[in-house]
Amino acid sequence: MKMSPDDPSRSYLKIEEAYNIIGFEPLNKEKVIDLGAAPGGWTYSAVKRGAYVTAVDNGPLKKPIKSNPLVIHIKEDALKFIPPKGQITDWLFCDIIKNPDIILNLIKKWLKNSWCRNFVVNLKISRTDPIALLKKIEDKKTGLSAYCSLLKIRQLYHDREEIT
Ligand SMILES: C[S@@+](CC[C@H](N)C(=O)[O-])C[C@H]1O[C@@H](n2cnc3c(N)ncnc32)[C@H](O)[C@@H]1O
Repeated sequence: MKMSPDDPSRSYLKIEEAYNIIGFEPLNKEKVIDLGAAPGGWTYSAVKRGAYVTAVDNGPLKKPIKSNPLVIHIKEDALKFIPPKGQITDWLFCDIIKNPDIILNLIKKWLKNSWCRNFVVNLKISRTDPIALLKKIEDKKTGLSAYCSLLKIRQLYHDREEIT
């Protein structure tokens, strides 16, 4: 995979790799909510495919994402962000550097409420026992597995101390 000259961040390569592993990707006119979106690599990958993206981040998006008509930038706390009532978003992206338990609880909230059909989440594992974390994620009663018909977990080629 190569960075494109317009790509706002190296993270872009992670989500492109994730689509290959999942076997599908955002489609034209699908809705994406990107939590922790700045500088905009994951958002860029979705708008390249014609998806509408709500990018939630207190920080700034880079050009050309900043002025892309498919992108709405919401400067809010992504951990508290709630999608518009009745809207099921096609894709939830989440790439926030926080304790993995906080992020897992956030994703569970989205899944319990059926706010999204698909998700890609990056979890930082630098200060965590990765095996314990995997068991937690895969627990069929309390983990993400409880809410998913398909769940793939990888340390991607472009991941550092993180899993996706
Ligand atoms: C690793 S970067 C995301 C990179 C992005 N996926 C990309 O492709 O460019 C993490 C981002 O999460 C944002 N962030 C962290 N905590 C946040 C919060 N509570 N609310 C909103 N944004 C947050 C940071 O501002 C930062 O821009």
